[in-house]
Amino acid sequence: STPSQITCVEDFRRLAERRVPRMFYDYADSGSWTEGTYRSNESDFHKLKFRQRVAVDIEKRTYRSSMIGIDVAMPVAIAPTGLTGMQHADGEILGARAAEKFGIPFTLSTMSICSIEDVAAHTHKPFWFQLYVMRDRDFIERLIDRAKAANCSALVLTLDLQVLGQRHKDIKNGLSTPPRPTLANLVNLVTKPRWCMSMLGTKRRTFGNIVGHAKGVGDLSSLSSWTAEQFDPALSWKDIEWIKKRWGGKLILKGIMDAEDARLAVESGADALIVSNHGGRQLDGAPSSISALPNIAHAVGKEIEVWMDGGIRSGQDVLKAIALGAKGTMIGRPFLYSLGAMGEAGVSRCLQVIANELDITMGFCGHTDIHNIDRSILLNGDIFDR
Ligand code: FNR
Repeated sequence: STPSQITCVEDFRRLAERRVPRMFYDYADSGSWTEGTYRSNESDFHKLKFRQRVAVDIEKRTYRSSMIGIDVAMPVAIAPTGLTGMQHADGEILGARAAEKFGIPFTLSTMSICSIEDVAAHTHKPFWFQLYVMRDRDFIERLIDRAKAANCSALVLTLDLQVLGQRHKDIKNGLSTPPRPTLANLVNLVTKPRWCMSMLGTKRRTFGNIVGHAKGVGDLSSLSSWTAEQFDPALSWKDIEWIKKRWGGKLILKGIMDAEDARLAVESGADALIVSNHGGRQLDGAPSSISALPNIAHAVGKEIEVWMDGGIRSGQDVLKAIALGAKGTMIGRPFLYSLGAMGEAGVSRCLQVIANELDITMGFCGHTDIHNIDRSILLNGDIFDR
């Protein structure tokens, strides 16, 4: 396939399934426990129906917008994803490049393969950094300082990983700390020569933000025991206060699923919050993100920006999220699939596909400017109201 033969996110998923080693493809395409929340993130979008309008002049359309005051080519940012450099060699650098060319923000995960410094050295525009709160607070302070030194323009603080949701496939594939790949996984690796060759061509094959930076973590085996015990279950709003102070820049809180927590997020002084269930990878049985959005948007009002992620697979889904009160959105798996399928060209194409779907759908709904989108473009915009 060439990028132009790819017409939707599902095409990328299928291609990634063929090209990416099983254990890393499964890592991306999985949710926790029954994967019920993972699936409902997507399927709940399909419950929302557009109101088609005709004979409205829709010749000049624009979907440019802004997120926390930053101009964006469309109201979509790339979500932070761990191990991205395993979907494709140097994946984080390629993703950041595709995002900056398109004109949308890229978020680098704490658990990325390429380090903050790697990505900064290979890009021109500021990217965002996602922080997990670890028990080792010295390490966190240094990470925050490194993100500042790299000129990152926002800190995305993820709050929904105090404990780790159990993902069956990762356990069965031995994608654990330390990694214990099964024989089948190793055999599968041999069937992906393109991936293997590209991995041989890069030095970036371990957690670049951590190895050589965290105390006592110099190699893969010390890294394993470190990560296993570092996610901090004692995280509280007090920690958010000191992180905000230490960082001093734009702060975005990720993983809010409850209106009361949304109010606490507003009071914490954050610039935006992200309605997110971590792509269905943490609390299985939690509602879909799109169904949780209206209630939270209502609770927050105009005080800070409300964004959402989880289940967005098209520009139509982006438009539905905007209609239900999101000022911006994030995409995780569409990014990973397109990266695993075709590297940087894949991500660029994926962003084009999503923007095109967004543009055309907005037109069908009789609108020319994304700023005028509200729930009146939906026939049943109230189905998730509580
Ligand atoms: C994630 N997500 C995530 N979030 C975060 O804050 N830090 C991280 O390191 C990761 N890692 C990660 C890995 C993989 C493989 C996936 C799929 C997701 C969650 C991510 O930021 C986002 O919330 C979801 O991916 C959004 O859902 P969709 O777009 O994947 O459906």
